[in-house]
Amino acid sequence: MTSSKEIDSKVASAKSNLSSKNLSREEIETVQDILKTDSRPVPPVLKQESTKNLGNLDIPKERYFSQEYHDQEVEKLWKKVWQWACREENIPNVGDYVVYEIADLSVIVIRTKPNKISAFYNSCLHRGMQLCVGEGKTSNLRCPYHGWTWKLDGTLAHIPCRWDFEHVNDNDFRLPEVKVDTWQGFVFINFDPNCESLENYLENIPEHFQQFAFPLEKRFTALHVAQVINTNWKVALEAMMEAYHIFATHPQMLKHAGDINSKYNIYGRHSYMVFPSAMQSPYLGKPQDPQAPAKAMMDYMGIDRDIKLTSKGMNSRAYAAEAVRQNLNQHLGVDLSDVSDTEMIDAISYFVFPNSIIMPVVGQPAQLRFRPYGNNPDFCIMDLLTLLPSSLENTPPPAKTRWLTSEEKWSDVPEIQPEEVGVVLDQDFANLPLIQKGLKTSAKPGITLANYQESRIRHFHLVLDKYLSD
Ligand code: FES
Ligand SMILES: [Fe+2]
Repeated sequence: MTSSKEIDSKVASAKSNLSSKNLSREEIETVQDILKTDSRPVPPVLKQESTKNLGNLDIPKERYFSQEYHDQEVEKLWKKVWQWACREENIPNVGDYVVYEIADLSVIVIRTKPNKISAFYNSCLHRGMQLCVGEGKTSNLRCPYHGWTWKLDGTLAHIPCRWDFEHVNDNDFRLPEVKVDTWQGFVFINFDPNCESLENYLENIPEHFQQFAFPLEKRFTALHVAQVINTNWKVALEAMMEAYHIFATHPQMLKHAGDINSKYNIYGRHSYMVFPSAMQSPYLGKPQDPQAPAKAMMDYMGIDRDIKLTSKGMNSRAYAAEAVRQNLNQHLGVDLSDVSDTEMIDAISYFVFPNSIIMPVVGQPAQLRFRPYGNNPDFCIMDLLTLLPSSLENTPPPAKTRWLTSEEKWSDVPEIQPEEVGVVLDQDFANLPLIQKGLKTSAKPGITLANYQESRIRHFHLVLDKYLSD
């Protein structure tokens, strides 16, 4: 394992060697070409090119900190869109529930029958008390204030001193429901009773996910860490939507990551990115040892170099992919021999509008969600989940959510292994409050985006504009 000191010196030396060569686009190998030499067939959707000219106007800075803009988002975005509330595995048995909160809205997501999940506004119909907090298991929904009680299906079960409420009709006092549906093990909710189906909302994403090897509904949550961050939810989200920042923010990754080789596709509402690994950044040129990027990546992922590999004739990506396959096979007992190299080593990350990053990959499957924290546009909650494949007979229970305080570092979370991954997150999160402050003090009315590498961010804002102008 690498010590903190070694990581610090790696980062420092990578920073001191930084020189931003002015490469032309033609000198940068495309993901299309990189995937051509992979050792397994590549999911065909990754060969698609889907870019659009979206203009190049600046994005007004106020949308990152104005209270008025936040209030509009609550009314026109959060109350209208499908949003990931929890995982099905968080509520496996009848009566299991999770409270999902967004801005100052709160919803109880509860399993009401073995094959049915319901969602209710988390508010008592008597005097408004929240019915549930956090997560747990219950046989009914009983308000802690005066004891009004509902059955799990939302029908009114009991009112203490019923004689005093002649005016209350049981049928009118069912718990109001929120729409709920599932996809790939994620439970989504929607506050809008007239919303389109989740299937429609997800557009081509379910079709894309059919091409990846390990469906996320067959995985388990190996890690769930959450933190309140002093930045707008969009600032945090956008830090995960491009690899353009790797060069300056995570220079130690350039030895094993093709930062500016990354590919960005945009579709109707959603988009994806492929950030290739086990190759050297074009900034560093070609490595002397062709397998050096694979070895650097194995170090980054904490994979033992002694793993038995036939490296002869394998290119760096195939070599690293095989190392990750064998490593996961040892740890999880899952046969990954047919899984493509790209799913083993690259960051293939789908943006599901408005606030989720969902990764179908096997090697480093981070799932991210960003939401406003209460009604304060300067704060958000970020959730990070790792969904790993498991052999069915032996699925471990989902990891409990670990909340980090604002002082805690991600590299100090022992479950985030290896430490270098935590360091990358710390580097990202160190930027976020500074971006929030910088935006407020800026003399410039908006932010300026790269045409290609930041096209998903522009696209996200255009879709957001559509919601807010409705
Ligand atoms: S507020 Fe819930 S029973 Fe009174
Ligand atoms: Fe980053």
